[in-house]
Amino acid sequence: MSKFDKTDIFSDGLAEKALVFAEHIHAQDSGGHDLSHIRRVLKNAEHIMSVEKFTVDKELVRVCCALHDVDDRKLKKVGDPPYKNVMTFCAENGLDGVAADIIIGIIDKVSFTSNGSRDDSICAEAKIVQDADRLDALGAVGIARAFAYGGSKGRRMFGRGSDSTVEHFYNKLFLLPGLMYTETAKTVAADRVAFMKEFLAMIEKETT
Ligand code: ADP
Ligand code: NI
Repeated sequence: MSKFDKTDIFSDGLAEKALVFAEHIHAQDSGGHDLSHIRRVLKNAEHIMSVEKFTVDKELVRVCCALHDVDDRKLKKVGDPPYKNVMTFCAENGLDGVAADIIIGIIDKVSFTSNGSRDDSICAEAKIVQDADRLDALGAVGIARAFAYGGSKGRRMFGRGSDSTVEHFYNKLFLLPGLMYTETAKTVAADRVAFMKEFLAMIEKETT
């Protein structure tokens, strides 16, 4: 049971506004954090919510999906206060400090746990946003994002035991299914990882 579903703070239509807000923030990004990533995360979350049985504040999940990367450290400028963009969104939409804290609490878990840990005590909304975000790092899109990101950092494409993008598959991406919370996301993740392994097998074939 969600602890937020009786609050009525997150009215219908707020997620749409959050998406428009995020669009401006991510306008300059050509790869990992563009608006198409945000839309896919939203779609993943809708899929999880349609299959899983637990009760959640769906609009809160959608708002957090839309805003989850607006204050990403990769986009942050020196001197920006923490969660500057989320705070701006809340102020522009008449959301008070309580609402802002709820949103930030969920988004914060997403970025913290994406470093490779799992915390079963987080709320159901955070679990869904987290799983939805992690799913977008897998599959064909996940491969494309990894190479786009690796390229932007000047990383080599291949080479085990090095700082290559393929190494990132083993160091992080293949660990993600084991860190997911919902059975629905784990099922989608398994399919996507299988495809990535086929892709790596082909790379191996073509490069040796
Ligand atoms: P998000 O914020 O969406 O959870 P990240 O910011 O961790 O994701 O990463 C964005 C994308 O860049 C992901 O698809 C991820 O796999 C990729 N990425 C992150 N670090 C690396 C890396 N060292 N090498 C290649 N790809 C990376
Ligand atoms: Ni993300």
